[in-house]
Amino acid sequence: MAASLIDGKLIAAQIREEVAAQVSALEKEGIHPCLAVILVGDDPASRTYVAAKRKASQEVGIRSIQHLLAKDVAEAGLMDLIEQLNQDPGVHGILVQLPLPPHINEYNIIAAISPPKDVDGFHPYNAGRLIAGLDTFIPCTPFGVLQMISKSGIETSGKHVVIVGRSNIVGKPLMNLLVQKSDAANATVTLCHSRTSDIKAHTQQGDILIAAIGQARFITADMVKPGAVVIDVGINRVEEQGKACLVGDVDFEEVRKVASRITPVPGGVGPMTVAMLMQNVAKAAGMSGS
Ligand code: GUN
Repeated sequence: MAASLIDGKLIAAQIREEVAAQVSALEKEGIHPCLAVILVGDDPASRTYVAAKRKASQEVGIRSIQHLLAKDVAEAGLMDLIEQLNQDPGVHGILVQLPLPPHINEYNIIAAISPPKDVDGFHPYNAGRLIAGLDTFIPCTPFGVLQMISKSGIETSGKHVVIVGRSNIVGKPLMNLLVQKSDAANATVTLCHSRTSDIKAHTQQGDILIAAIGQARFITADMVKPGAVVIDVGINRVEEQGKACLVGDVDFEEVRKVASRITPVPGGVGPMTVAMLMQNVAKAAGMSGS
């Protein structure tokens, strides 16, 4: 029997509704949640993501400010803008869309964002709190993956979760979240990456398999344990039969024949990432007291 779909679009819509209610409550206290998004350059994928964040902000009542900077902006110029936003009491969340052009040091930029405004949860202070199991801003994509799993009634406790991909944005924070001693985690985690030897031997062991490696249809049916839950974080732009299309890191049509649950692309993890960002902005605004 084919796997049933985990509908990220639907779960994300429910979360946005909850956030909209939180935002209305904050408005009544005189707090007007505001997200500043910085986009450097004109990468088409990044522009699409930034547009989706703006649309979601409007939908839940969060004010959104966009700063579009030229691709050759100096690192110091970007730093100045971040400092200005750090100091602005009307801005609750700051997001610098990644990747940045190669002449800008990503780490310096992330570290310049004030931790209470770091709604991506990438600042080393927040990343450290996440590892320690303390309250923090959870990076939006890993947060979205966990929400999809828990809201679909899928147990992680005692399960073997295999993650493919070791990025700072997805793989590493997911690993750290899933091993926490908490009801929503308690998993045994294997983190595979591009240098893992015999990757299939690992992926076949996963009760839950999470693909975040950035390669179209990397996960094939023979790599999946029958009955596994498969979460596809990939969004790859490919051209097929002369048409541009989006495909995940999972060979969806084949893998759905062996998995029990599977996320589609589009309509899976993507909308969840944006919904969790909205939740993080509401949290930042609530903590700010102004
Ligand atoms: N680029 C891809 N994913 C993300 C994300 O979650 N946050 C930021 N800032 N940039 C990204």
